[in-house]
Amino acid sequence: MTEMIRDITLEREALRRAAALGESFLAGVAQRPVGPLASADELRAALGGPLPESGIDPVNVIEDLARGVERGLMGSVGPRFFGFVIGGGHPAAVAADWLTSVWDQNAGLFATSPAASVTEEVAAGWLVDLLGLPAGTAIGFVTGCQMANFAGIAAGRHAVLRRAGWDVEDQGLQGAPLVNVVVGGEAHVTIFTALRMLGLGGGRAKRVGVDGQGRMRPDELARALAGCEGPTIVCAQAGNVNTGAFDPLDRIAPLVHERGGWLHVDGAFGLWAAASPERRGLIAGVELADSWATDGHKWLNVPYDSGLVAVADASALRSAMTGKASYLIHSDGATRDPFEFTPEFSRRARGFATYAALRSLGRQGVAELVDRCCRLATRMAERLRAAPEVRVLNEVVLNQVLVRFEVPGRDADALTRSVVDRVQRDGTCWLSGTHWQGLDAMRVSISNWSTTEADIDRSADAIVSAVRSEREAA
Ligand SMILES: Cc1ncc(COP(=O)(O)O)c(C=O)c1O
Repeated sequence: MTEMIRDITLEREALRRAAALGESFLAGVAQRPVGPLASADELRAALGGPLPESGIDPVNVIEDLARGVERGLMGSVGPRFFGFVIGGGHPAAVAADWLTSVWDQNAGLFATSPAASVTEEVAAGWLVDLLGLPAGTAIGFVTGCQMANFAGIAAGRHAVLRRAGWDVEDQGLQGAPLVNVVVGGEAHVTIFTALRMLGLGGGRAKRVGVDGQGRMRPDELARALAGCEGPTIVCAQAGNVNTGAFDPLDRIAPLVHERGGWLHVDGAFGLWAAASPERRGLIAGVELADSWATDGHKWLNVPYDSGLVAVADASALRSAMTGKASYLIHSDGATRDPFEFTPEFSRRARGFATYAALRSLGRQGVAELVDRCCRLATRMAERLRAAPEVRVLNEVVLNQVLVRFEVPGRDADALTRSVVDRVQRDGTCWLSGTHWQGLDAMRVSISNWSTTEADIDRSADAIVSAVRSEREAA
């Protein structure tokens, strides 16, 4: 039998090589085309083949991997990536994330990693303070906003059924009182996936009408709630993925609570508006909700994966998530067992990176990051609006700009799709399309700490020149 003997020289070499490769990627990311260059087949040829019979040393693996993936990487950490809502990696958070892998802690229990547990405890306290959530709010460090929505609504399902005298964790949903779920007509797709996974049914949710920016209409919500008997969960949104608009939480929360309902807020990126004194007004009433979902990997610029669930009544989240087993070492209550706040059992100590981002930016740095991205979004909208072929569809209140291209004699939907395609191929910046209230549109999302005014101007020029090329090509 061959023994595997730890060779610290090899480990050191592999880490150093990874650091050098990472450094050169970051140094070049602003210069390379933003979109990926390789096809799936090219990547399969570079990375695939049968499972090797024998291994090779880690340094070679790292070099081969970096070479193999290079042309298939999206430049989403770079300053001119404006697709979906994807943040970059703040330097402290990226470095902490590397150490997270090196330390390789199981962040399930205090017993498996006191360091991970206490770091999360501290970061959780900072987040509650920064986002202006009620004292005592529990935070769980999950993979992304999908799981944050899942965990927040799971806490709500627990609470509304408990009030109805039903223990859903023990008894499940069969025979349970009916749970009404009401969502905004513009709820994000992950809300419906969460409802599906929780046995509440994505298709059963009542959808409430929205206004032209996608904001839930309180009068329509009141009407929908009037038809709800018994346990009720309402899912509102802070930051529409297309327009950046906020549901009026200060008007929604009293309507939900006067009927004994649970208010969950999907604030994947919009919740960070609460960290900016300049923008907090957009999210007035946020503290009145019962649970919130957001992401570190969007606006806080923590590397993937980093989602955050927050629940005002910590016991509701714990009851929905926790399990007990005789072989575990449960904490005595004086310390945090992180698995009590997330759907996972064993998991990566992802709190280190969030802690590092918050420690590095501080309260002012987070506010500046949010404000800067919003100012850059306004700048992008203004520069695009100056071109007669561009129509800005949304009120630019946050970091999202929604535009459409219109030229006399051309089908504007088809033109908009072609412009998106041309911009992606050009490589100066990267963004994608959407369909907004019956119209094809292009989304611009500005969420990266390293984007500058020059990046915005260069990208706006590239977009306008793509429209003009399309116009000439016709
Ligand atoms: C409003 C909203 N909710 C939820 C999500 C899902 O987040 P994640 O991709 O982190 O699961 C997104 C992603 O863009 C979003 O914008």
